[in-house]
Amino acid sequence: MTRDQPDRRCRAAILISGSGTNLQSFVDRSRADQLDVDIVKVLSNRPEAYGLSRARAAGIATACVEHQDFSDRESFDRAVAATLDENEPDLIVLAGFMRILSPWFVRRYEGKILNIHPALLPKYPGLDTHARVLEAGDSRHGSTVHFVTDELDGGPRILAGRIAVRPNESPAELQARVQAVEHQIYPQAAQWFAAGRLRFHTGAALLDGSELTEPVVIDYD
Ligand code: GRF
Repeated sequence: MTRDQPDRRCRAAILISGSGTNLQSFVDRSRADQLDVDIVKVLSNRPEAYGLSRARAAGIATACVEHQDFSDRESFDRAVAATLDENEPDLIVLAGFMRILSPWFVRRYEGKILNIHPALLPKYPGLDTHARVLEAGDSRHGSTVHFVTDELDGGPRILAGRIAVRPNESPAELQARVQAVEHQIYPQAAQWFAAGRLRFHTGAALLDGSELTEPVVIDYD
């Protein structure tokens, strides 16, 4: 799937549940004219998410849809979609959004949803990735941007940022270094999408027309 209206500037909605440092990296890049994306809405499922304050400070429209108000996943997702559609997004950016999306939502925006996962996928889908990497004694760790499909953390991979694990590093130290990498690679992947270079086609990620059987990998140290 390509962008529906490739001639207009890409309109992104960013979904968060927490601090929103990745959201901030999009705001900063966009302000510095390094990202051809208009952030048209920031939506959280938690009213106290600090990312909502970041969005307000940046003059971006915000919305909160609380998952507790819905009896099932799909009705929550339908309310989220109705709120997002007010702003006609071309791209949905999941940035620490701690809800699993229903198949209905994923189909509704097929090929338009990006996620970032703090691990070198396909290793370590799910939670607590930094502690799991340290426990396993891995020498490398990082983060991966991918298209979202029905499979949790399993959609086609686009771009990975890789770092070397340091001796005696704590999970918190590792997390901070991985997040710094995320703030580089996530806007980069979004820029590829905005420029029409990246698209989703029949279940695969295509960059400049070629299928990415492996993600592009950038080493940061
Ligand atoms: C990031 O580490 C991302 O990989 C994961 O959630 C975290 C969100 O952090 N999906 P922040 O809210 O952007 O600071």
